[in-house]
Amino acid sequence: METEKQPEVTDAELIPIYIMGKQYMVPPTLTIMKAIEYAGYTLIRGVGCRGGFCGACGTAYRILGDPKLYFGLACQTVVQPDMYLAQIPFFPAQRTRYDIRQLEPIAATLFTTYPEVLRCLGCGACTKACPQEIDVRTYMAAGMRGDIARMADLSFDCIMCGLCAARCPAEEAQYNIAILARRLYGRYLAPRSEHLLERLDEIEAGQFDAQMAELKSLDKDALTERYKARDIEPK
Ligand code: SF4
Ligand code: SF4
Ligand code: FES
Repeated sequence: METEKQPEVTDAELIPIYIMGKQYMVPPTLTIMKAIEYAGYTLIRGVGCRGGFCGACGTAYRILGDPKLYFGLACQTVVQPDMYLAQIPFFPAQRTRYDIRQLEPIAATLFTTYPEVLRCLGCGACTKACPQEIDVRTYMAAGMRGDIARMADLSFDCIMCGLCAARCPAEEAQYNIAILARRLYGRYLAPRSEHLLERLDEIEAGQFDAQMAELKSLDKDALTERYKARDIEPK
């Protein structure tokens, strides 16, 4: 559970926000997620890591008097006065099932698994919606060219929140197409690390079994001591 203490706020400092159309007065320092909980709601959907990594807390909001539609992660975005909130914990985007071991890392794989990639209009609504500040339009353009490596690289920080798909006039599922590109890149195109392969062979050959058994036999205090005494690479 959340134990982090919030600074004391007087009633005069509380600000109005709107959750499902109802006004609540909340401290101005809270994130949207904490403000929703402060207002008395228990979040079951639309919450996960609370740290900006899982993509479960995508939220759309407007500010009273401002026609613009804004997007953010509820666990990262601080509330503002007169914020009208709508959480989008799940977006029902198209997702194709596939076995990555059966696919080839070529453009045709993108086009046959997700033919809609070629429908992108280049409007950029997805880029504006992305709370990770990913240039979604540009990674989609890479996808249209069949450039798997570029699409994988540009979409690397995607947390699968679905906000880009929610805004797309061409009904793309950008994040699902991009994760296919990252999987193809990771499995087939990324350079192999020889050191990693050697270490995996050593592990499989049992080279570290005795050390692991010894570590597992230690109690918490001994483990803590061992941790503190570990070799640390100089900065
Ligand atoms: S919102 Fe859709 S159509 Fe517009 S650039 Fe993004 S993927 Fe393409
Ligand atoms: S690319 Fe789309 S799904 Fe990924 S983080 Fe950005 S808005 Fe969310
Ligand atoms: S709860 Fe995981 S990104 Fe917000």
